[in-house]
Amino acid sequence: MKRLFVFFMLCNFLSFADDGSRLWLKYDLIKSESQRKVYSKTYKKIVVLNQTPGIELAAKELQEALTGLLGTKIPISYESNNVTSSKKSIVLGLTDLGSEEGFSIAGDNKSARIESKSEIGLLYGTFAFIRRIQNLESTTFQLTDSPKVKVRMLNHWDNADGTVERGYAGSSMWKWPELPETIDPRLIQYARANASIGINAVSINNVNASSRFLTPEYLRKIKGVADVLRPYGIKVFISVNFKSPKTLGGLETSDPLDESVRNWWLKKTNEIHDYIPDFGGYLVKANSEGEPGPQDYGRTHADGANMLAAALEKRDGIVIWRAFVYNADINGDRFQEAFNQFKPLDGSFHEKVVVQVKNGPIDFMPREPFHPMFGAFPKTPLAMEFQITQEYLGQSTHLTYLAPMFKETLDSKIDANYTVAEVVEGTKDKFPISVIAGVANTGSDVNWTGHPFNQANWYAFGRLAWDYSLSSEQIAKEWTNMTLSHEPSVVNSIVDLMTESLPTYIKYTYPLGLHHMMGEGHHYGPQPWLEKSGRPDWTSVYYHRADAKGIGFDRNGKMSNALSLYSKEVQNKWNNPATCDLNYLMWFHHLDWTYKLSTGNTVWDELMIRYFQGPEEVKAMQSQWEKLKGKIDSEFFDNVAGRLKTQEREAYWWRDACYLYFKDFSKLPLPNGLKAPSRTLEDVKNIERIYHLR
Ligand code: GCU
Repeated sequence: MKRLFVFFMLCNFLSFADDGSRLWLKYDLIKSESQRKVYSKTYKKIVVLNQTPGIELAAKELQEALTGLLGTKIPISYESNNVTSSKKSIVLGLTDLGSEEGFSIAGDNKSARIESKSEIGLLYGTFAFIRRIQNLESTTFQLTDSPKVKVRMLNHWDNADGTVERGYAGSSMWKWPELPETIDPRLIQYARANASIGINAVSINNVNASSRFLTPEYLRKIKGVADVLRPYGIKVFISVNFKSPKTLGGLETSDPLDESVRNWWLKKTNEIHDYIPDFGGYLVKANSEGEPGPQDYGRTHADGANMLAAALEKRDGIVIWRAFVYNADINGDRFQEAFNQFKPLDGSFHEKVVVQVKNGPIDFMPREPFHPMFGAFPKTPLAMEFQITQEYLGQSTHLTYLAPMFKETLDSKIDANYTVAEVVEGTKDKFPISVIAGVANTGSDVNWTGHPFNQANWYAFGRLAWDYSLSSEQIAKEWTNMTLSHEPSVVNSIVDLMTESLPTYIKYTYPLGLHHMMGEGHHYGPQPWLEKSGRPDWTSVYYHRADAKGIGFDRNGKMSNALSLYSKEVQNKWNNPATCDLNYLMWFHHLDWTYKLSTGNTVWDELMIRYFQGPEEVKAMQSQWEKLKGKIDSEFFDNVAGRLKTQEREAYWWRDACYLYFKDFSKLPLPNGLKAPSRTLEDVKNIERIYHLR
């Protein structure tokens, strides 16, 4: 018996290899006995006032959490509403006050009470309460909270064949062949994780959508997933292929104004509701990168979106229509194409339509100025689309914590009065719908996200979708406490590492606002020399415009006037290279290599200083990480240590590729103190070339 106890304590107190599958919901025993005692003394039972399935779910989650964190099983009792003996209890109960998904918690050193108007609000409140304990916070507090944005959504880019577009964590976690008969228990873990951060919607399949998802075979499978997610407050959306009436329905056209097409969508929508009564709605990528759409029939995006909205007229669901559209025009500027296509349609969308806009005008680059559509569409609700999967951000090998990037966009001011976040929330133009979406980074990998730190990006996305005013540091701290350690020096070091990781990544890839210079197709590693591709706007030279004189894309009139799409306030900030935020410089200006920047350095020197600092910072990240050895879980530690080595090698690859390529334009020496690499441009070009070998 004694031996068993010692083993149990060892497992909990020493580093116990952890495969990462439990995400931030680990519920491991709190190491500090005194801290455990504070909670154990206060919380001796869970009292449920309204016995409904949803509240039981919350109570069980709470019980599991407390049992793990405190090391003793806390009983659940079901009592009537007029309970008097709430001492030493956590009481869960419904109330008439507050908003649908909101909750309030009040606690003192004798008890705590979690209340909400709805079962789902109680579940959110329960997770908030658990989070407080996981963060070792005080028992005495008052918290009232509710989400700022209504639909907080993950967009999965999963295909019917089990692959995931831009997925870097294994294959699809939906396991289509086994559904609906076999439900992978991981789906419940996935639902819990999402509910714990307030995510309440999921689009199940790739936006480059297959009509297969609308067949009865797949609708049955999707119903299987929807049934698992429902108790956790998560609604399912489907990405649709606009040509489905033709390809699947056998109609002669998919013209949105054709009666037979409209009827087909109405019938299909009704059929979907037979499987999934609370169906969330449609997500659509149309007339974009070769996908079909209403323009194939001479119709507009509004015609297409409104047809689907009409099919949902009598339902709760909505249509999320993506604005990620651009033309292959060598003389155009992809930056402004979505704006120009959608601007004339502002005001002509059905009230059930939300237009989903990527955070920046090009395509999820590591740093983009906010998309100029935000703030310029007073009559159309705009959804925010972030990418959590790190297509251009080191995929699954580079440590890049994305909360600062999400925040940078959300906090950007569109004019003197409003931020992007307020536009999305609907505060500015008073829309009833608001949506924030993130392209998911989950897959079949045992730890869900490949790089263990990518879990933090999923977590951070959810937390910010719920409350965009949270700070990146606070979120990093919460996540670290819940996932890795409570030791203040360890937590501080990890939070610091996370917070600095994005600026470091940007230094060795895209300093000063350079963008879109990645390897063709796979989008990994550098290829600034790419000058021919399927389309001009898929090359690198289209974006950096390096020549003998200088570098950058002048969007202030000379190469395009995209800057004029922003408010006067924003234009005034960015139109002068002397005052433009250095982070966005090359987005808006083509500058001579010898142009003197506010830092005192020339453009060439500043670029090189940053390119050369980047890999050194990765080395420093490694030393910082090494110091955590033995202080956090060993499996997590080793996994990250390995990936940091890859990151270092690849940071040099980026640095050398960009230096060796651009120096042939600038013909300038490296600034003092920087040593040229020994390899040649051909050497680095070969690394990329190998990616395309068969
Ligand atoms: C990027 C990505 C594609 C994706 C597209 C989209 O271009 O590389 O794989 O389909 O974004 O957002 O639709």
